[in-house]
Amino acid sequence: MAGLGLAARLLRRLPAETAHDMAIRALPFAPRMKLAVPPGLATRLAGLELAHPLGLAAGFDKNAAALSGLARLGFSCIEAGTVTPRPQAGNPKPRLFRLPEDRAIINRMGFNNAGLDAFAARLAARPRDVVIGANIGINKDETDPPAAYARGAERLLPIADYLTVNVSSPNTPGLRDLQERKALTSVLEAVTAARSRHEQAGGQSRPIFLKVAPDLDDAAALTIVDAAIEAMIDGIIVSNTTIARPPGLTSAARGEAGGLSGRPLMAPSTRLLALMARHAEGQLAFIGVGGIGSGADAYAKLRAGATTLQLYTAFVYDGPAVIQRILNELAECLARDGFANATAAVGTAN
Ligand SMILES: Cc1cc2nc3c(=O)[nH]c(=O)nc-3n(C[C@H](O)[C@H](O)[C@H](O)COP(=O)(O)O)c2cc1C
Repeated sequence: MAGLGLAARLLRRLPAETAHDMAIRALPFAPRMKLAVPPGLATRLAGLELAHPLGLAAGFDKNAAALSGLARLGFSCIEAGTVTPRPQAGNPKPRLFRLPEDRAIINRMGFNNAGLDAFAARLAARPRDVVIGANIGINKDETDPPAAYARGAERLLPIADYLTVNVSSPNTPGLRDLQERKALTSVLEAVTAARSRHEQAGGQSRPIFLKVAPDLDDAAALTIVDAAIEAMIDGIIVSNTTIARPPGLTSAARGEAGGLSGRPLMAPSTRLLALMARHAEGQLAFIGVGGIGSGADAYAKLRAGATTLQLYTAFVYDGPAVIQRILNELAECLARDGFANATAAVGTAN
């Protein structure tokens, strides 16, 4: 554990993307963390059993290249991707910026990834002792988004535990327009049709999630909830990074273009989560992501309606020890307020 903490500190001295690439290459050699999950933290995500609510958000392991190592660190679930049908270089570097004083990151990676074939080959050799989601997107020059999402779904439903439809990354021009109702319904129908074909062929049923941007206005957010229920997907992940720049950012890189993640995203993404979860009235599962860096943050997301949580930026700053610390602090919050377990707290702030 001390060794991994030291490794995380050393990586932070390198340029952000170099450090990330080194971490991905080193992860196959990561030792198993001795995680002590406090009682009462086991949870369920649309029928999937999780040892605790804390998972790794999409974008860290875009190519499903480090799943075994990440599982050994103690995440209960890992979302690999975003993968696009064809390989893609992404935006010119530099495209990843740390904002240490704000405990934040700005990225404009632009879906750099090795494509669906490479992703599927790696995912087929996945570890079995952890829940793994596959997050699918589209190439930047895609002319038929529903067909492209369906291709990703068809390929990955047999090998992932759940699927995430990502229509919310800010770094692919036009992608977030797919959150508009008509376009969204076409995408979701294409993906659920792929799921029906997969099930009719004898495949195991898999939950499908939609990942949304935190920059939606309230009316658009409620429309998305309605569209998700109508399309009979299983849940919504709230949220991706923000193109907003909340007042008070102090780090030198705060003016960089791209999506902002980490601490400044906690309040807006949790507000949106609560709004959408209230409107869903129990008909959808919610994954809360955006700015989680402490047990209190995790607790706030549960109370806003999430059964499962993900993080990315706090893992970059704190290393793998962040998992045990957040679980301990979350258990303390639950005990303090008299909740018998994590599930009992879900949605209680709404
Ligand atoms: C460098 C970087 C790359 C990301 N790439 C993706 C991605 O490919 N697909 C996606 O759905 N989200 C991506 N995200 C967003 C995260 O999954 C997450 O939604 C966001 O960072 C908020 O969580 P956090 O505040 O804990 O970091 C990325 C985030 C970062 C920092």
